[in-house]
Amino acid sequence: MPDDPLVVFTPSGRRGRFGRGAQLLQAARELGVDLDSVCGGRGICTRCQVRIGEGAFAKHGIASSNDHLTPLTGAELRQRDGGLLKENRRLSCQARIGGDLVVDVPEESQVHRQIVRKRADARAVEVDPVVRPMYVEIPEPDMRDPASHLRRLEKALREAWGVTVAGVDAHVLRKLHKTLEVGGYKATVMVRRGKRLIDIRPGFHDKVHGLAVDVGSTTIAMHLCDLSTGEVLASAGRMNPQIRFGEDLMSRVSYAMMNEGGADAMTGAVREALNALARETAGEAGVALDDIMEVAIVGNPVMHHLVLGLDPAPLGFAPFALATDDATVMLASDIDLQLNPGARIYVLPCIAGHVGADAAGVVLSEMPYRNDEMTLIVDVGTNAEIVLGNKDRLLAASSPTGPAFEGAQISAGQRAAPGAIERVRIDPDTLEPRFKVIGDDRWSNEEGFDAEPTGVCGSGVIEALAEMYLTGLLTADGAIDGGMAERTGRVVREERTFAYVLRDGSPRIVVTQNDVRQIQLAKGALYAGARLLMDRMGVETVDRIALAGAFGSHIDTKRAMVLGMIPDCDPTKVGSAGNAAGDGARIALLNGGLRRELEDRVRRIEKIETAVEPRFQEHFVDAMAIPHKTAPYPHLAAAVALPGPKPARDGNEAGGERRKRRRREGRGHGEAAE
Ligand code: FES
Repeated sequence: MPDDPLVVFTPSGRRGRFGRGAQLLQAARELGVDLDSVCGGRGICTRCQVRIGEGAFAKHGIASSNDHLTPLTGAELRQRDGGLLKENRRLSCQARIGGDLVVDVPEESQVHRQIVRKRADARAVEVDPVVRPMYVEIPEPDMRDPASHLRRLEKALREAWGVTVAGVDAHVLRKLHKTLEVGGYKATVMVRRGKRLIDIRPGFHDKVHGLAVDVGSTTIAMHLCDLSTGEVLASAGRMNPQIRFGEDLMSRVSYAMMNEGGADAMTGAVREALNALARETAGEAGVALDDIMEVAIVGNPVMHHLVLGLDPAPLGFAPFALATDDATVMLASDIDLQLNPGARIYVLPCIAGHVGADAAGVVLSEMPYRNDEMTLIVDVGTNAEIVLGNKDRLLAASSPTGPAFEGAQISAGQRAAPGAIERVRIDPDTLEPRFKVIGDDRWSNEEGFDAEPTGVCGSGVIEALAEMYLTGLLTADGAIDGGMAERTGRVVREERTFAYVLRDGSPRIVVTQNDVRQIQLAKGALYAGARLLMDRMGVETVDRIALAGAFGSHIDTKRAMVLGMIPDCDPTKVGSAGNAAGDGARIALLNGGLRRELEDRVRRIEKIETAVEPRFQEHFVDAMAIPHKTAPYPHLAAAVALPGPKPARDGNEAGGERRKRRRREGRGHGEAAE
């Protein structure tokens, strides 16, 4: 009716006229306003709180006032006394409309509130809960109405919540009678995906939690989240206990192949760790394991198979056939997780035999499929998982980089742990190095530095090599220049090659010619994989590069480019994606709609198998040079003074002469990139 009060909801801007006496929550629902409720409008849950605007609102052409609502009800007064209803708020399920209103729905009253993301450039993601608690009151059984408990429960859900039940878990049926009796026929039902009943509790219960899990080959990380707010309540991590069966993925696959029951033992070990982490996070947050209803899991293909109890052996050899690449939903108890008996796990889809659910997590976190920008995402591990594309098309591949980036096969290499050299700078004039060690904020040449380095981790090796190249210690073809021994005692002969002494002491830490070769092989493979995808996409450059994973977030992007690990790109557009796989697990845990979006996208990703692409080998060979044999690096050259090509050492040109000639040619040593 035209003279009915006008109600405007903010921030949605939805508006409509409602008769006097209409319930505010009902008005919101009719307009499709996002307003939370667990108790179904009985004044119990306090989720439906709103704030009423006071005064004239010229924009809407109305004057709004708290007086335009019916007075506070008994339920509201009780909630206010209990401190759950703030002074200037009303429960929209209690308040009835008596005049024009501007109604503000605060963030915490919205079902689809935004998940807080730490990275400033990260896309906002909202909560779209997969499991929702719904409170119902049902009539007691009556001789005159012989309907079953379940039938009466379904009717109550239909009437109060508009839910049409499409399935009931067996354990719900088993405890239905007792629960209703104990709760006086008032109960809270956990409804999954809007239709399946996965738990029932007596009375009112609004605690629903979930776990986001990133099962890495080295570490397992878990976050316990509140499923309705998206908040992370506790986080924990531990080493993957499968390490005792093999350091890297392939040795674990061979353990499974060579040992009867080997795969089962690894499955048991990882599941035990998942249960321990669940207990740890739940204990820290004061949450009952029984209140955990959903788990989202990411992991590389081998971890994916071992967690699910699938045989990983076929992933050890071509054609690397996965048992399934679809997103997998099953009961958490199917993988021995001791949570609520109705809890489900959701394992993100795999992309290909070498590109797993962890890469799908990265894709979900970075969402290149929503952008115009041609984005290259690289998750560096023993196998680099590479995704290239934008909203029109996505390609994926994995590249066999080997473990060099993780510090393996490097003479003084070690994992990124306290004691590892992680940052390196070399003075272009004196050729003296300085470095930073994990666990100490100071540079080695600063006063008070007293760290005892034990080795060098992947990011430290990358920086050492990039600096050696920029200062002329390393040639473009990757030789440590023995001629530089004339200028610095840090270049030393080691049998037929040379090495650079990063730290003279105990332990003595040097970069050997073999170390350089190992990194060249790894970075050549990484670049070749990326280049292959660019060829297939038909692009010469990319607009943005995101480096994912622990290594990716640690690495100095400019020096990675100096070394030619990644293609040329505007340095301001190259950055770390943080723990993107883990972020993807958290997003999948909290947003059911985005799961469907991801599944749809993953199905359409074109997979490139690097092993069968003849061009891969060509790119690989060219990419061994630093930064690359032929590919131009215009953005990098604008940001960093790259050295010119060095003449081959013929022994006739003394170092001093060579330096003089370089100066004449205006090709001084490159300055360190900052
Ligand atoms: Fe639960 Fe209003 S809907 S208090």
